[in-house]
Amino acid sequence: MNEGEIMQRTTVHETWSSRTVFLLAAIGSAVGLGNIQRFPQMVGENGGGAFVLIYLICVFVIGVPLLMAELMIGRRGRQSAITTMRLVAVEEGHSPRWTYLGWLGVLIAFFVLTFYSVIAGWGLDYMVKSLVGQFAGLDAARSNALFNGLLADPLRLAFWHAVFIGLSVFVVARGVHKGLEAAVNILMPMLFIILLGLVGYAMVKGDFMAGVNFLFAPDFSKITGKVIMLAVGQSFFTLTLGAGAMMTYGAYLPQNVSIPRAVSIIALSDTAVALLAGLALFPIVFAFGLDPNSGSGLAFVTLPVAFGQMTGGTIVGALFFMLLVIAALTSIIATLEPLVAWGEEHRGFKRSTTAIVAGIIAWVLGTGTVFSFNIWKGFYPLGWVPVLRAKPSLA
Ligand code: PHE
Repeated sequence: MNEGEIMQRTTVHETWSSRTVFLLAAIGSAVGLGNIQRFPQMVGENGGGAFVLIYLICVFVIGVPLLMAELMIGRRGRQSAITTMRLVAVEEGHSPRWTYLGWLGVLIAFFVLTFYSVIAGWGLDYMVKSLVGQFAGLDAARSNALFNGLLADPLRLAFWHAVFIGLSVFVVARGVHKGLEAAVNILMPMLFIILLGLVGYAMVKGDFMAGVNFLFAPDFSKITGKVIMLAVGQSFFTLTLGAGAMMTYGAYLPQNVSIPRAVSIIALSDTAVALLAGLALFPIVFAFGLDPNSGSGLAFVTLPVAFGQMTGGTIVGALFFMLLVIAALTSIIATLEPLVAWGEEHRGFKRSTTAIVAGIIAWVLGTGTVFSFNIWKGFYPLGWVPVLRAKPSLA
């Protein structure tokens, strides 16, 4: 295919209506389970302030330039990451095979979608559990049992997983303006309000200074090569790098938006949300004498014990899990969008068709994650790969 043919085959996509809505969407894709659930737990386990410092260096030295590059390439190509990679490479006189890199990113995002939605589904289940008062009087053992009960129930997990994928498909199918923008315009302000409300609650009712100390007191003795790699990994994951998502969002970017400025805002907001999530969680954990180092059980085992004991815990708990669900939803739509954009570019598939087909495939693949907690527990098909032999952590 020569350059002329490629240019002819490009599809005109919608562009973001304003810089603000682009920022909301990009921050929405960056802020997710990685910020609300994974970051606080990693900080607690890996040296507090020392880890935060290394993480910040990774975000601003590695993440920010990469994010700028993704958005710039995206805006230059104006297509999904897959088509953009081919187009821009060919325009510059390079091989069209660069498109495989676009595919790799989009497939990574798609696999993230399959398991991410299962975990977001736990959030939906726990939101309901909190509202109906199931956390009342929980102690650590009963909270553990409650969580294990959920994991042991494949139907329930598959149901919430379906609800979550259904919501994402609905948003993406409606297009950039009526779907993505409408969703982030409602969800992102809700996310910030809930987060700030929870931090305010933690200041008043929690042991705020203990939380601050736990998050920020630096313990450099815990910093090893492995911890540095964890920080690098977390900076990629949290900024949604290498997943074709930011490149596709960049394709919808009007020319007059300054990419360096936008990226600074995205990176700062993403980091702020991660830190605020820690400041919302840990003061509560300490106020109730619970264990802050409970790893991936922090959100789903430790916190419910606190919600069950505190005044207004039903609402505070429901809001916390709602925060998790909103953060996950705005990330998940970013994983689906590149594929849907690619579908539009090829034979003009309708957005709804690609979104529904992709959603069904993602749901089916995600049942693998669902079963890994119950009927396939102990089954390690890739166990021959040394790093995959150990029990995988939950998120
Ligand atoms: N940025 C998301 C988070 O922090 C994770 C993500 C990675 C989402 C890759 C989509 C693709 O939770």
